[in-house]
Amino acid sequence: MDKQILCINNLSVSFGEGKDKVIAVDDVSFAFENGRILGIIGESGCGKSTLALSIMGLLPDKISNIENGEILFNGNDLSKFTEKQFEYIRGNEISMIFQEPMTSLNPVFKIGRQIAEPLKIHKSLYGRALKEKVIEILRAVHIPNPEKVYNSYPHNLSGGMRQRVMIAMALSCEPEILIADEPTTALDVTIQAQILFLLKELNNKVKTSILFITHDLSVVAEVCDEVMVLYGGKVVEQCNVYELFDNAKHPYTLGLLDSQPHRCESGKPLKSIEGIVPSLSDMPSGCRFSNRCSKKFCIKCESDIPPLFNIRDNHKVACWLYEEGKDFD
Ligand SMILES: Nc1ncnc2c1ncn2[C@@H]1O[C@H](COP(=O)(O)OP(=O)(O)OP(=O)(O)O)[C@@H](O)[C@H]1O
Ligand SMILES: [Mg+2]
Repeated sequence: MDKQILCINNLSVSFGEGKDKVIAVDDVSFAFENGRILGIIGESGCGKSTLALSIMGLLPDKISNIENGEILFNGNDLSKFTEKQFEYIRGNEISMIFQEPMTSLNPVFKIGRQIAEPLKIHKSLYGRALKEKVIEILRAVHIPNPEKVYNSYPHNLSGGMRQRVMIAMALSCEPEILIADEPTTALDVTIQAQILFLLKELNNKVKTSILFITHDLSVVAEVCDEVMVLYGGKVVEQCNVYELFDNAKHPYTLGLLDSQPHRCESGKPLKSIEGIVPSLSDMPSGCRFSNRCSKKFCIKCESDIPPLFNIRDNHKVACWLYEEGKDFD
């Protein structure tokens, strides 16, 4: 087995205080092996970005809190890190790319300067060696005419090029982990395909481990090795990508798979999971999915939170249908 680079144990993250407190990431555990691509999927509001931001130490300060658990990165617990300690690893050992590159690129600085910044801080590169490294990185993410782009401002570039620049920035220090939070949602399909190809290529060549957040299952099929499905802040299913598409078990995962456009018969309306995700302050007390679940079968579904049951090697499901000893297949 490859080395575990990131190991999250029983992580819970809250927003707000007192009676307004909600748990956005609820008792999440997973281990992430070196060089893999792990997809994190689930509908809007299920806690994907909150999980990513807690790993990066970027949770909004006063309103959020790590309530419990640990985030072990190469054995160090990031949940206990100070801002100063994070400054060393952020952009250096762990980086992140966001959905909308304009929010992370500074509009008043040229691209070259922005990519150079982390290299100056973390790799002590200066002058000509620094510029050469930046051009090399721009080339590695297949940016045509890198010398010209080096001297351009973000607004001179197309959306796809800006996203490449973001990836270049995130990868400049050759991080061990790249967190990509919906990196292609704002792009059109051909550009999306190019960016996904680029991320896979970097994963292959440089062995960067990637946490890939998306709600698009076709993207998961394209790039991920393993998948974790979140619902209402909890992990409901975890397996490898083949199991996901051939043998998914959780009624929520099955609903997500059924809602994919290509699974729909032509001429018929697109299927969707009935109902909407309840707000965090109003979650059912048993299984979080119980009020939308067509397979609800016992009182326990509404009263007790199902733990993750191992249904086979590397496949876990949090559904009472799969409680040990039961066989509802
Ligand atoms: N700054 C915040 N203040 C209060 N609540 C927040 C804040 N950020 C997120 N939340 C709450 O935490 C929950 C998880 O949000 P999060 O952004 O992690 O979801 P997500 O899965 O990334 O959704 P999306 O697919 O829309 O990006 C949501 O219910 C959201 O309302
Ligand atoms: Mg998000």
